[in-house]
Amino acid sequence: MSILQLQNITKIYNQGKSNALTALNEIDLDIKKGEFLAIVGESGSGKSTLLHILGGLDTPTSGEVIYNDKKIKYTNINRLASYRNSEVGFVLQDFGLLLRETVIENVCVPLLFSNCSFTKMKQKALNVLKLVGIDDLAKRKTAQLSGGQKQRVAIARALVNDPDIILADEPTGALDSKTSSEIISLLESLNNLGKTVVIVTHDLSIAKRCNRVIKIVDGEIL
Ligand SMILES: Nc1ncnc2c1ncn2[C@@H]1O[C@H](COP(=O)(O)OP(=O)(O)O)[C@@H](O)[C@H]1O
Ligand SMILES: [Mg+2]
Repeated sequence: MSILQLQNITKIYNQGKSNALTALNEIDLDIKKGEFLAIVGESGSGKSTLLHILGGLDTPTSGEVIYNDKKIKYTNINRLASYRNSEVGFVLQDFGLLLRETVIENVCVPLLFSNCSFTKMKQKALNVLKLVGIDDLAKRKTAQLSGGQKQRVAIARALVNDPDIILADEPTGALDSKTSSEIISLLESLNNLGKTVVIVTHDLSIAKRCNRVIKIVDGEIL
């Protein structure tokens, strides 16, 4: 059963200008519920653009994104925001954390847009911190953490709204091989809990641990 489909997706940056650039060219992709998918490809091939379109962070120039058999309508701002915030959990390339805030405050950020009470927010944040194995660090300033710990915070933050899909852009790009392997084990365990996981990676040893690997070359799936 499909959870997320791309139909004939093209993304052109700066369309109509002299610096127009086709980042994705007529991409079709069908992601099954519960899949653990790796997207590989050289730098500049369009991996991040693809992930951003999957997560509703960017709009395609043409084509359709279909989530649970429903087309995403980019004109429905509220629905799009709720897709981005609740259905999908995004783990960003550079962690995207607020370094001066505590771990638990970072994990609470996606909940600030819900009508969750402060007590409930803290409870939810602690639950996901426990799930990623760093609940003991909840009150630490994020700047004081190691790279692997920061990546766990980013994953906890992506999980706090209990999304169906985790999208991770080079989640191990800044980590040593042992820590990378631990982060992938964590993503595997989330996949075993039923989450659909899509990761962009340069690392073939990581890609091998996924159910399926797709390769992007110049904006097209090989
Ligand atoms: N906001 C943007 N404006 C213009 N060009 C962009 C933008 N983002 C990415 N690009 C270009 O689109 C292509 C694909 O980029 P990206 O998706 O980031 O690739 P990857 O993640 O595989 O390195 C690259 O040529 C990049 O320079
Ligand atoms: Mg990228």
